[in-house]
Amino acid sequence: MNIAPFEISGKVILVTGGTRGLGRAISLHLASQGALVFAGYFQNEEAAEEFRRTAIDKNCTCSTIKANLMTGSGIQALFDQVISTYGRLDALIYNAATGVHKQLDALTQRHLSIVWQVNVGAFFDLSLKFRQHMPAGSRIVAISSEGAHRAVDQYGAIGSSKAALESLCRQMAAEWAHSGITVNVVAPGLLQTGTLSAMERADARVDHEINASPSGRLVQLDEVAHIVHFLCSRASDGIIGQTIVVDGGKRISSFVR
Ligand SMILES: NC(=O)c1ccc[n+]([C@@H]2O[C@H](COP(=O)([O-])OP(=O)(O)OC[C@H]3O[C@@H](n4cnc5c(N)ncnc54)[C@H](OP(=O)(O)O)[C@@H]3O)[C@@H](O)[C@H]2O)c1
Repeated sequence: MNIAPFEISGKVILVTGGTRGLGRAISLHLASQGALVFAGYFQNEEAAEEFRRTAIDKNCTCSTIKANLMTGSGIQALFDQVISTYGRLDALIYNAATGVHKQLDALTQRHLSIVWQVNVGAFFDLSLKFRQHMPAGSRIVAISSEGAHRAVDQYGAIGSSKAALESLCRQMAAEWAHSGITVNVVAPGLLQTGTLSAMERADARVDHEINASPSGRLVQLDEVAHIVHFLCSRASDGIIGQTIVVDGGKRISSFVR
């Protein structure tokens, strides 16, 4: 049978942090293409309810799963719900993240362990659990950020977790390619999501991002979702262990506008 290279219809996909911000855009886009989407979330019931209503309005097959990625029981709950429903997972999109926006002097071990657990520890546990239930052709896609490679103001906890996430993805990609699972990373530039309101000097950051990007604008959530779609499809079979930067060209440019 010939399968169109970008086809993802019928694929079972879990998007962690999938009910708001970038995760919401990814979940709704993948579901609009016929994927059977589970969207994880932690505690924002209002966003989860809005997400469920939107999914129904758009006629999408999306379920939400409330689970705390800081705990073993939360990770188990995500796993159990997906596997008890479909018996397999075709793509894990690890988008959930938490952050403590502080200079290094104000960071404690507790801050680091929370951020590292949600941003990379839970990713490791979930990937290992699901791996046995991911058929050949399955995908793991993790969402990273510029802070994995560059020093960003008040980003020490998050940036270090994203660097570990990217490194782990490369390792998984190399170790698991033989079983037909591809692992890749998508690293967006600054996005217009709720995260911005948690940052100091958010307006200045947006201005800087726009001025430093050859595109002259922020990347849109759907533009990132389309790259995740591509990585979930057969069209990306040959891409293994890469980080795809979706930032309007900011990282490759030092032009002054
Ligand atoms: N925003 C940016 O400028 C930007 C730039 C580059 C990369 N990124 C990356 O893109 C991804 C999404 O960013 P965003 O701005 O859309 O994030 P966001 O709006 O803050 O959403 C974060 C999501 O993660 C979930 N989450 C947080 N802690 C959790 C926990 N303990 N257990 C389970 N779920 C948890 C949240 O659940 P609740 O809804 O229940 O709170 C929420 O759905 C992240 O990986 C981020 O690092 C963002």
